[in-house]
Amino acid sequence: MAQPRRSVPLILDVDTGIDDSLALLYACASPEAEIVAVTCSAGNVDARQVAENTRAVLELAGRPDVEVAVGREAPLLRELVTTPETHGPRGIGWAELPPPVMPLSPRRSPELIVEEARRRPGEITLVTLAPLTNVAIAALREPELPRLLRRLVIMGGAYRVPGNTTPVSEWNVHVDPDAARIVFGAWARAVEADMAAGRGETAGTGVGRTSAEDVQRASWGNASPTVPRALAIGLDVTEQARLLPRHLGALADRAGTAAPALEARVRSGDAPPPENLVLRYLADALRFYMEFHETSDHFYGAFIHDPFVVAAALDDRLVRTEPVAVDVETGGAISAGQTVADWRHLWGRPANADVAVEGDADAFLERLVDRVGALAARRG
Ligand code: RIB
Ligand code: CA
Repeated sequence: MAQPRRSVPLILDVDTGIDDSLALLYACASPEAEIVAVTCSAGNVDARQVAENTRAVLELAGRPDVEVAVGREAPLLRELVTTPETHGPRGIGWAELPPPVMPLSPRRSPELIVEEARRRPGEITLVTLAPLTNVAIAALREPELPRLLRRLVIMGGAYRVPGNTTPVSEWNVHVDPDAARIVFGAWARAVEADMAAGRGETAGTGVGRTSAEDVQRASWGNASPTVPRALAIGLDVTEQARLLPRHLGALADRAGTAAPALEARVRSGDAPPPENLVLRYLADALRFYMEFHETSDHFYGAFIHDPFVVAAALDDRLVRTEPVAVDVETGGAISAGQTVADWRHLWGRPANADVAVEGDADAFLERLVDRVGALAARRG
């Protein structure tokens, strides 16, 4: 599959964590990605640690210029839960990174999201790889956010598969289900307003914009005449991509270093660390993550949710989606955090999301190895 080459302005919302860090490296390694800013949410670890990890990984990637902001340090209504057993006490597994030098932005995350969307109407893709706390606050402050963004791409939810945190909820939605419900509701209201005004599609067709909408946008300036549905990529797709030690070997090859040495290090901390600092980080962070998956999912490898979603945000041909109305359970004693998709149209509501139902995991993994391997070579 030929890779796209247009420029894609991105804001990434992260709870850096191990797969978030891989997503940051992937974005830094992608020539078509214009990283406008990175906003930090509490989730895998607390928000301050997320901000520390995010800046340290951006510096490792040679991108100390990227603006990094921190947002609310707790979910909207609930106590914060973190997951040190999955990502390690500091969120980067067994890896060690020097404390970052780059400063934090003076702007808070929701403020940054709203200001940048207003400054560049219709241009920015907001990719959320974390609980949706920041985005919910931004949407409450700016009801036009769905129309001001080019697209919202969410790593979150489980639409036709079990959850990974409770039987029905995926981690990002589980941490702050109230925020997730506000975000899906904001996009639902924007789509309904379009329909009431006789704009937009009456039924779901495909992913992203139609050329007609691009033509319309040309006449409306950058702000979109119709609201693009949120691209919701949940476990249905992200758990189709399993990163295995052999992928690290291929990545070492692409970086021009010894594959067996990297594979050895990702399997055991007794193996010598790679000289290349990007590869050393990957091996030590992913070894922790793979040990977790060995226990929790019975394979020595890793579901790398976040970079799959960034890759799809840059090239939505990597996923196949179906338009559907999505809402989030917040009250259930055992079902809070469930993303409920109305596949049979029983609610009679318009689709507010394009939910990914299939993904090209092989193409994604090949692109990840190629791009992050090339980044490691450049940084080596
Ligand atoms: O459920 C997977 C998601 O939760 C990923 O974003 C991972 O980083 C964790 O935040
Ligand atoms: Ca994440």
